[in-house]
Amino acid sequence: MFEHPWFEISGLYASERSEGKPYGTAAVWHSPTPLPNSVSAMMVKNIEHVVEELDQYDIVFSALPSDVAESIEGRCAVKKPVISTASAFRYKEDVPILVPEVNAGHAPLIERQKKERGWKGFVVPGPNCTTMGLIISLKPIYDTFGIKRVFMTSMQALSGAGYPGNSALDIVDNVIPFIAKEEGKVVLETVKTLGRCENQVVHNANFAVSCTCTRVPTIDGHFLSIFVETEKECTPEDYKKAIAEYNAACFQTFGDLPSAPKETIVVKEEDNRPQPRLDRELGGGMSTVVGRIRQDEVFGTHGIKYCSLSHNTKRGAAKGELLATEYLMTKGYL
Ligand SMILES: NC(=O)c1ccc[n+]([C@@H]2O[C@H](COP(=O)([O-])OP(=O)(O)OC[C@H]3O[C@@H](n4cnc5c(N)ncnc54)[C@H](OP(=O)(O)O)[C@@H]3O)[C@@H](O)[C@H]2O)c1
Repeated sequence: MFEHPWFEISGLYASERSEGKPYGTAAVWHSPTPLPNSVSAMMVKNIEHVVEELDQYDIVFSALPSDVAESIEGRCAVKKPVISTASAFRYKEDVPILVPEVNAGHAPLIERQKKERGWKGFVVPGPNCTTMGLIISLKPIYDTFGIKRVFMTSMQALSGAGYPGNSALDIVDNVIPFIAKEEGKVVLETVKTLGRCENQVVHNANFAVSCTCTRVPTIDGHFLSIFVETEKECTPEDYKKAIAEYNAACFQTFGDLPSAPKETIVVKEEDNRPQPRLDRELGGGMSTVVGRIRQDEVFGTHGIKYCSLSHNTKRGAAKGELLATEYLMTKGYL
């Protein structure tokens, strides 16, 4: 975002805790990418002022907690496009959960949203950061072989809980087998994002999803263990071929967008990959890294199992939303 060729940060808003502080002081900066001086020095304003100051901006990027996002994002969307990492609007019928390489065809929901709500702007959220590594890795399977059932267990990084997140006493030397509301989000978002959009209505994908979401002591990168029962026969080699074709199609369609990775899915052949520490930055943190692709013993020729890794604060949040915004710009929605 800091050196994005198309966008420039011209205002920053947060809670009253940050109001009047330079961003460099208000934010606890954990990224290895240094904060540019220009952004570090920007004064953070109280979010309550954003609605009255909207005329200064073309686009609003929101990363608010969901309970705050519902009201603020809705009020901003009356005038301006809002691109969000929050879940507040994800499940509304007139709102696309937009991931260009998965469901670019859902973008026309924006027209319906604007018309039905009488807004000049709109809200477009991305999916939950855990859903992201699931849907991208499922997309070539779903399109090529069809899907009957999906089982998934996540091992989610600490940064997924925001700052300060989990207490060290809870998470060091430990796995926490519950993340509030996460499993329900993954189920709903997977079938919605992979659904078909016709006449501005999304028909959810017709397969079942069952998942367990856990928190583990990695810093960034959500790791998933996935089992898929397919409609048609699918071997690991078939899946890899489908991934190669999918990557080529994605590159052809989205390859010119500044935040798009060269390979939407990177396949790792080594038995001990992907690993969060080694692989999460592939494709600038935008590639989904898939490995350990095997035939599933339970589903036999109609099932495969694999591991998937997706950078939760890049692909699963801010950078993923930049890519969606870039796509919407090229399509004239912005
Ligand atoms: N972390 C991830 O991996 C990830 C991935 C995908 C989606 N998301 C979603 O993205 C959103 C942000 O997540 P995060 O991890 O960045 O959270 P975070 O580190 O807790 O940051 C939340 C931001 O919202 C502001 N805020 C909190 N309460 C507010 C209020 N009442 N009024 C105005 N501003 C308020 C905070 O401002 P102050 O600094 O002033 O408190 C802070 O800037 C959440 O909805 C989350 O579910 C997160």
